[in-house]
Amino acid sequence: MRLLTTFLTLTSLSLFSSTHAFPNTPFNVSGRWIHDSTGANFTYAGANWPGAADVMIPEGLQYQSIANIVSKIKSLGMNVVRLTFAIEMIDDVLDHGGDVKVTDALNKALGTTNGTKVWGQIVKNNPSFGAGTTRLQVFDAVAAELNKQGIYVHLDNHMSRGYWCCSSNDGNSWFGDTYFDTAKWKRGVAYMAQHGKAWPNLISIGLRNEFRQPDTVGSSLPYDWPTWYTHMTSLSTSVNAANPDILIFLSGLNYDTTLAPIPMADNLGNGQKFTLSSFPYAHKLVLELHNYQNSATSCSSMESGMWNGGFKAIDASAVNRMPVVLTEFGFSQSGSDYTSVYASCIRSLMQKWKTGWTVWVLSGSYYIRSGTQDYEESWGLFNHQWTDWRSQGAINALKGLVTASVAE
Ligand SMILES: *[C@@H]1O[C@H](CO)[C@@H](O)[C@H](O)[C@H]1NC(C)=O
Ligand SMILES: *[C@@H]1O[C@H](CO)[C@@H](O)[C@H](O)[C@H]1NC(C)=O
Ligand SMILES: *[C@@H]1O[C@H](CO)[C@@H](O)[C@H](O)[C@H]1NC(C)=O
Repeated sequence: MRLLTTFLTLTSLSLFSSTHAFPNTPFNVSGRWIHDSTGANFTYAGANWPGAADVMIPEGLQYQSIANIVSKIKSLGMNVVRLTFAIEMIDDVLDHGGDVKVTDALNKALGTTNGTKVWGQIVKNNPSFGAGTTRLQVFDAVAAELNKQGIYVHLDNHMSRGYWCCSSNDGNSWFGDTYFDTAKWKRGVAYMAQHGKAWPNLISIGLRNEFRQPDTVGSSLPYDWPTWYTHMTSLSTSVNAANPDILIFLSGLNYDTTLAPIPMADNLGNGQKFTLSSFPYAHKLVLELHNYQNSATSCSSMESGMWNGGFKAIDASAVNRMPVVLTEFGFSQSGSDYTSVYASCIRSLMQKWKTGWTVWVLSGSYYIRSGTQDYEESWGLFNHQWTDWRSQGAINALKGLVTASVAE
């Protein structure tokens, strides 16, 4: 009897897991919801793992194995990682002799003394890597481990030049800015969409992180919605052709804090309108926004700002009814910032609106940030050595949000 019960339990469990088998791709959009291939709602609940700075590989590997990092993410119940990359990595592949070896990338970014030392630490933690391992192979290894542990990948084009993001004078702010070559951007994002076809857990890609008005106009195109529309439409079409299975995330202006004209199909400034139904791949389009109103004193004013800035695309009244994901928000993990109006407000709005999110940022430290090596990241969920969480209080609060989000 006992054996029979066990047998039946195992059988029904395995039937259950085969109908709900990870990864259930491709994902589709239906109105304001994102569905997996079984038609179930999917709400993004995850974290940013940066890989777009000078070395142009995912951070933290000099301190931990990929498997350990992913296990910690998994322990929070998160279902997705927003993995950032720089266009320069693809330019190197296509224009400068191929995918760069990690050893060379480290030596270039950190100098040969520190580069050699950090490489030694990376290989010690990740012994499957060898002298010939390239940047894209590191991205592949991260995606593979996330897949193994049942976590999805969202790729994000963070920067053109491999460097810390974002400012209005970093040359990466807008089409035509010093390092922002529009043609190379299009080529690079489409390349990664194609490359990621080999990752069973890749569900989506963000075309560009945070558009912003450059300080010096230089050769930049006009900073306006019509320019945005032209290039986002053109690149989303080629990304969809390169990989028709993944969702495409459209970010807005002013550091991705506004997509205001999109929900109600307002005039973009030249008579043109964003009309979702005109896109043959409308079932793949998602809006993404960021919020860093860290010193907010009123949640209701944050709420109306975010709603009018684009979240109202989820509303039944929206002309372009679409999912909206908060792909960046975050705060210092030292002290009690997680109890601030800002942090509490983000947590309550995500639950109220049933919208997805990815918190900035996993990194307890960076290989290099803005010229400082082994940079301490006080906003990092991880501590400097990526061994444990920086703040158990902040993590408990975040875990509450994860649980609520994944239950949708
Ligand atoms: C996704 O939507 C497209 C267009 O409506 C449809 O052809 C396709 O079958 C859908 N796929 C899934 C997995 O629902
Ligand atoms: C998705 O979630 C919403 C809100 O909870 C619900 O109304 C809807 O039926 C869900 N859709 C599916 C396919 O489960
Ligand atoms: C090597 O890295 C350390 C931090 O680990 C840093 O303090 C030092 O300046 C770096 N050396 C060079 C030559 O950049």
